[in-house]
Amino acid sequence: MTDEFLTRADYTAAAQFIAARTQHRPTTALILGSGLNPLADEIAHADVIPYREIPGFPVSTVEGHAGELVIGALSGQTVIALRGRAHYYEGYSIQRVTLPIRTLHALGVRTLIVTNAAGGVNPDFVPGDLMLITDHINLVGMAGLNPLRGPNDTTLGPRFPDMSAAYDPELRELARAIARVHGIALREGVYIFLAGPSFETPADVRFIRLIGADAVGMSTVPEVTTARHSGMRVLGISLISNSLTRGQEQVSHEEVLAAGKAAVPKLAALIKDVLARAS
Ligand code: HPA
Repeated sequence: MTDEFLTRADYTAAAQFIAARTQHRPTTALILGSGLNPLADEIAHADVIPYREIPGFPVSTVEGHAGELVIGALSGQTVIALRGRAHYYEGYSIQRVTLPIRTLHALGVRTLIVTNAAGGVNPDFVPGDLMLITDHINLVGMAGLNPLRGPNDTTLGPRFPDMSAAYDPELRELARAIARVHGIALREGVYIFLAGPSFETPADVRFIRLIGADAVGMSTVPEVTTARHSGMRVLGISLISNSLTRGQEQVSHEEVLAAGKAAVPKLAALIKDVLARAS
């Protein structure tokens, strides 16, 4: 399915369903990518809602993506974690993939922390590294598959949203400072979105490196584009689960999940302190 145009009614239906199932009123959301689900285990007084119960919510079919909302308290903030996400390659329209973002906005979320597992394209990166996303390349969007394609409801955001600072400079600075305190070597770079699900050929890797990518993945960019459209502040962190340039040609989903698991403690430490200090 290439396009389906959703409206405010779709987002409010999902948001009203969620609001009726919890007393918490979250203002910050965490999207937890492949293998990074355990981060949600630390949320206190949690209400858990499976995606399949929420009207219109896309349900991930991929292993490592649990498919539930976890809403509660973390580091003094009321948060809503998305344990797992749906991807375009699963067959959902790009508008359906990003329905959760507008639903979060309708719920009152104004800060989005997005995580993912990504392949390292910068030759300095090694598996297990964390990369602060400084910017992204919306290769799929440039080809026409932008989640904002279609009628624009100006009550949701502008027709032509600015993307010059998609990843909030203040939150980036905060993440850097916290990484220094914890002794976490935080890499920085540009994330490129490819539709997947096949991994990259060596020629694909040379091409995306040439055009400025440091890491590649199959998510995040549609979510961030939609979040910026609605005016949310965004912090993005990639876990480099594998290197595409260090003579390691073959990638497996198992390897991606294992790297995610191993990186959970340092990612959790970073995110918890960002939450504690973000205003
Ligand atoms: N390519 C694309 N997406 C990914 C990769 C990769 O090598 N690793 C994790 N997600």
